[in-house]
Amino acid sequence: MRDLHNRISSPSAARRVTGILAAALLCATALAVPVTAAAATTTGTSDDATPQLANGLALTPPMGFNNWNSTNCRAEFNETMVEGIADIFVNKGLKAAGYQYVNLDDCWALPQRDSDGKLVPDPVRFPHGIKAVAAYVHAKGLKLGIYTSAGTKTCNDAGFPGALGHEYSDAQQFADWGVDYLKYDNCNNQGVDAVQRYTTMRDALAAASKSTGRPIVYSICEWGSNSPWTWASDVGNLWRTTGDISDNWSSMLSIFKQNAPLAPYAGPGHWNDPDMLEVGNGGMTDTEYRSHFSLWSIMAAPLLIGSDLRSATQATYDIIGNRDVIAVDQDSLGKQGTVVSSVDGRWVISKELADGSRAVVLFNETGRPQHIATTASAVGLPGRSAYKLRDLWQHKNYNTAGAVSATVPAHGTVLYRVSADRHWASYPPAVEAGVSEAPLVEAGTPVPLTTTVTNLGRTPAISGSVALGGPQGWRVKATSPTRTAALSTGRKLTTSWTVTAPAGTASGAYDLTLTAAYRSPTGDAARSELATIAYVVVPPPDGTSYVSDLTWMSATNGWGPVEKDTSVGESAAGDGHPITIGGTVYAKGLGAHALSTIEYYAGARCDTFSAQVGVDDEKGANGTVAFQVWADDALVASTGVLTNAEPAQALTADLTRAKTFRLVVTDGGDGGDSDHADWADAKITCAA
Ligand code: GLA
Repeated sequence: MRDLHNRISSPSAARRVTGILAAALLCATALAVPVTAAAATTTGTSDDATPQLANGLALTPPMGFNNWNSTNCRAEFNETMVEGIADIFVNKGLKAAGYQYVNLDDCWALPQRDSDGKLVPDPVRFPHGIKAVAAYVHAKGLKLGIYTSAGTKTCNDAGFPGALGHEYSDAQQFADWGVDYLKYDNCNNQGVDAVQRYTTMRDALAAASKSTGRPIVYSICEWGSNSPWTWASDVGNLWRTTGDISDNWSSMLSIFKQNAPLAPYAGPGHWNDPDMLEVGNGGMTDTEYRSHFSLWSIMAAPLLIGSDLRSATQATYDIIGNRDVIAVDQDSLGKQGTVVSSVDGRWVISKELADGSRAVVLFNETGRPQHIATTASAVGLPGRSAYKLRDLWQHKNYNTAGAVSATVPAHGTVLYRVSADRHWASYPPAVEAGVSEAPLVEAGTPVPLTTTVTNLGRTPAISGSVALGGPQGWRVKATSPTRTAALSTGRKLTTSWTVTAPAGTASGAYDLTLTAAYRSPTGDAARSELATIAYVVVPPPDGTSYVSDLTWMSATNGWGPVEKDTSVGESAAGDGHPITIGGTVYAKGLGAHALSTIEYYAGARCDTFSAQVGVDDEKGANGTVAFQVWADDALVASTGVLTNAEPAQALTADLTRAKTFRLVVTDGGDGGDSDHADWADAKITCAA
């Protein structure tokens, strides 16, 4: 969840933050109690007088576009953009792939209603009005969505009109314009009961639909504040389960973790909504965006494209246009995938599909390659001697004897569709290309690395060979065999290597590619590839150094980038303030925001880490964080939950023999709101 500070200046936003905290608590309580799908979806009983939502819409999760994540309220959000997106849906095959709704977010209206109390489209953004835009979009065979708030005003500070008290008139206006989808937000709600506010709009939409014959998908956006999963299946077609997504890894990850346990509540016509896609907006790598898209699809989330498609890269189109993955999201059975296992950041999620197969996500939350494994029987498939395994990012079919596994790159996802298919023998055996670690390479010094090639298939992998490629100028040398005549089921080819980066190579992450080549018994050539990394590292200097003067290996942050020698500030780089905890100002340190992980190389030559840690004074109240120091895989120091009320706390950690250390900030268990966390005066002492 992102920093909400910008909103807490208004009373409604303050309520919203409280709501989010309350939701987190409610959510935690709900999780302690096992929930059955039946219990979750039958909240409206026969003696319940409240009418049910029976609009027959969104039988699969809605797919489309919304401008908010790319434009916010900027002037480029206008009818030219919206109609341009509709054109692109058609021209670039997105309509054919299932994308349908072109949705307007906040800022489309004028701040004042007209003298009849009607909403007025902003004449600069929408000179021809919303009805004309709807007609344009409809002419392309697409649908139009609009936005307002279940409050007196929308969320934007400019104060556009909300629909509280105007529900029937506004719904009628939307329907008359030709609107097919309403996103109904929660700002400025005046403390009126959420179920009441959202139910009134449901009924207003039903009345408007009846008079115009135009069905309207109803998207509830109250950020999970009132546990909508417990009541909204009778009210809306989808409901946001969390605060707003932002275009970074920590935000996406945190939202995934909040939404995944809500699987029992989703189904045809009523979906959990973990917010719109950020794919293509530039704040994550393509590997991370593929994870985002895979996770949203296995969670049967609405797929609302959030990037400006007029300037999107081919890589973005390849991700959002992946029909194998879209088919997982849009499967007619309508089940949200459930977590099979989650250990140390290695996630297995499985989704039952209408044809009896299972989609299986192997998701690696960590910054290192990980072997992630499950089996066909563990994901609920019937016992068979072999199965078909389709890789939905590579678009290739294999056979497996039952193992469903992969070595998954840092922050990456492998997505399979596994089925008890009697034609399994026509596909080559699945082979896992694995690597022992992401090697830490000091330039000029060889480091060892071990790779494995494992046959997961029922049939043998014949004439197997393995190759490891590094960047130009690197020396990659096998020190044990790279070939094998055949690998039977479950057998491995293990190869030792040394990897050397040329002297003078700058520190940073570099690509290594492991390729296993083999033949199936039917003679087909097959390959299995793993894109992984090596870190070129520089040993820290002798004596005591401030960590803000060193180069980190990697850093993730919940709000903007990690800052050196200032607080995190807002979301731009370099916009922090002097690090200040409990009134004390520190010249050196790191400014972070939960959830954050910063990793450094220690080279097994450092003794201690020390810092003064706490919540920065820059945001007033709300921040709740906890600090952890990890030496390789061991937690070596931590604080309890710290708040703005507390002064800095001294933290020291033993780094003896650690190759790396990680500085981690968690959100204190309540979501990452205003969690500005300082590692003040952070230093390490290393061997002289
Ligand atoms: C809220 C919603 C967002 C977006 C903005 C618009 O924050 O959660 O998705 O609609 O309002 O102001």
